[in-house]
Amino acid sequence: MKFFIDTANLGDIAEAQALGVLDGVTTNPSLMAKEGITGAENILAHYQKICDLVDGDVSAEVISTDFEGMVEEGEKLAALHPQIVVKLPLIADGIKACKYFSDKGIRTNVTLVFSAGQALLAAKAGATYVSPFIGRLDDISTDGLNLIAEIRQIYDNYAFDTQILAASVRHTMHVIDCAKLGSDVMTGPLSSIKGLLKHPLTDIGLAKFLEDYKKGNQ
Ligand code: G3P
Repeated sequence: MKFFIDTANLGDIAEAQALGVLDGVTTNPSLMAKEGITGAENILAHYQKICDLVDGDVSAEVISTDFEGMVEEGEKLAALHPQIVVKLPLIADGIKACKYFSDKGIRTNVTLVFSAGQALLAAKAGATYVSPFIGRLDDISTDGLNLIAEIRQIYDNYAFDTQILAASVRHTMHVIDCAKLGSDVMTGPLSSIKGLLKHPLTDIGLAKFLEDYKKGNQ
């Protein structure tokens, strides 16, 4: 399972990269705005900085909602760095643009996916990644993890290459449950990755080992 970090914060990206378990980064316009990154040139420069920090795929989202605009923006983003994956919203023009980029060998991440039918369309259009938002489904009393299971079954039935990128992951149990369900990738905040480290018995056991070592080596 690949671990992506869902942020535009360079400090968090660097910390996850330093841990040695990071496979990529996902961003979106909200995450960019949260870091105060505004204006087309600054946004492109920020993507460049992220690509310099990590080895893996970096999803960069278009803000156009029409096919021509998405193609123009996506081509500019893809030309910026070989690690860039063009992130497109799941609307009709986004699916058209996904097919266009897929035919050209440009990698895509189809985002804002909330149903199995939408995920099927993204796979048919040749998406590299599909991003079901599990946390936002949980927010409205709908089982986000069930969507991961449904997409897994559909993609396996037909051997679609599209990778399931569980998005809107909020905590460590989302990460573990997505891994159990066979999600190819998860993207979440740094806390969802660091939370996996935690177990009180590890801390208690380590303290005891060090104490016993100290006693024996006085
Ligand atoms: O990966 C999608 C993500 O950025 C949305 O997360 O927590 O705003 O639902 P959230």
